[in-house]
Amino acid sequence: MSERDNFGSKLGIVLATAGSAVGLGNVWRFPYMTGQNGGAAFLLLYILCILLLGIPGMISEFIVGRHAQANAAYAYDKLSRGRPWRLVGYLGIFSASVILGFYAVVAGWCCQYLYAAISGEVSGDADYVRNYFATFSSNAWQPALWGVAFIVLTHVIVVKGVRLGIERASKWLMPILFVLLLILVVASCSLPGSINGIRFLLMPDFSKLNSHVLLEALGQAFFSLSLGTACLCTYASYFSRQTNLLQSAGQIAVLDTLVALLSGLMIFPAAFSVGVSPDCGPSLIFITLPNVFQQAFSMMPLVGYLVCILFYALLVFAALTSTISMHEIGTAFFTEKFNLKRRYSAWIVTTATAILCVFCSLSVGAYPDLQVLGMSLMDFCDQMTANFMLPLGGMLACLFVGWYVPKKTVHAEFTNEGSTNQRFYHVYLFVVRYVCPTGILLVFLHQLGVL
Ligand code: TRP
Repeated sequence: MSERDNFGSKLGIVLATAGSAVGLGNVWRFPYMTGQNGGAAFLLLYILCILLLGIPGMISEFIVGRHAQANAAYAYDKLSRGRPWRLVGYLGIFSASVILGFYAVVAGWCCQYLYAAISGEVSGDADYVRNYFATFSSNAWQPALWGVAFIVLTHVIVVKGVRLGIERASKWLMPILFVLLLILVVASCSLPGSINGIRFLLMPDFSKLNSHVLLEALGQAFFSLSLGTACLCTYASYFSRQTNLLQSAGQIAVLDTLVALLSGLMIFPAAFSVGVSPDCGPSLIFITLPNVFQQAFSMMPLVGYLVCILFYALLVFAALTSTISMHEIGTAFFTEKFNLKRRYSAWIVTTATAILCVFCSLSVGAYPDLQVLGMSLMDFCDQMTANFMLPLGGMLACLFVGWYVPKKTVHAEFTNEGSTNQRFYHVYLFVVRYVCPTGILLVFLHQLGVL
């Protein structure tokens, strides 16, 4: 079991799980999804999904992982004694790898922006900033190389087991990111015309709701919590017996949602102020943020320059703690399944995801013809995983724990052998047995037009 023990401290692992949840999903994906789906009404649905489906789903994955003490596929296998539930694990490993492929593209963009922040390239007026993004992302190789480099960096960390260092660092860096977000929220809200952005994010217009918005809110909630790929299951296999699963899931969900909200409050006021359309898609933060650094700090250019560098550096770090978690799922699986050295199994994951990353990057840049079902390959991977595979994975995890795993085991894990959370056990059981599976199924059916 020594290969499984390289996670440093037991507190570190809960922090690492939070690090997995907080990432580009909050700062990049949440604002652009909210922007495309009409603002505040989307936000409401999103919060509802987190509370009703996300938290119970997280606990379910925690229960499977901690009880089985094994990688994603093997964990389901062990608890189901050979029944095909292991397919849920396989589905998770596959989804996580696809996500890593396109996520690394965006992480690569962040690296480019960090570099540009240091060299001072990214400052200019709103049009300049927009052009900067268009020019950079349409270059064939540069963004692809940044993405691949990011995956290789993740690989090195996953293999070298320097996670302990990363965990320690994240104890400091995550709070700094939080404070910086707060500062940028204030800066963004002080720009002229920002009030329209605040309205957009906080005053719901229910006429914007439809089945697609609901599906996107569900997908975003799962994506942001790292739920539905057995990622949480893999991490929970390293949890201690004393870890309070309900409390950890609650804390991580609250933290994650706060970061997303702050990101929204940082982006929309500025976007409305400088005339960037909120529904412009994945480029939203990249064409909005540089304006905040520049305009809000126009009296103190040096401060603006430093804040800009610090922000992109922290964003890269937050992305890294998330890519590590995606990489770990496949690596842990191949290591245990085929008895490979971690080094070799990590290379399998790295090679496959790096290839996907290059194609995704090209599909939103130099080769827009790289399309699947009428969307760019990158959008396709994003939509397919977030809106379909993650909710499916989460639903199966709930069904598995709710109906298949022996009640005794569920009770023992949920209450830490009867020492905590007794009162919530029945509520939890009811929710994972009925509410989560029907909720997710209804969203799917609604989207397919059956309902
Ligand atoms: N939750 C992360 C974010 O918000 C992304 C992430 C990390 C993820 N691991 C995952 C998403 C596993 C789905 C599955 O950035």
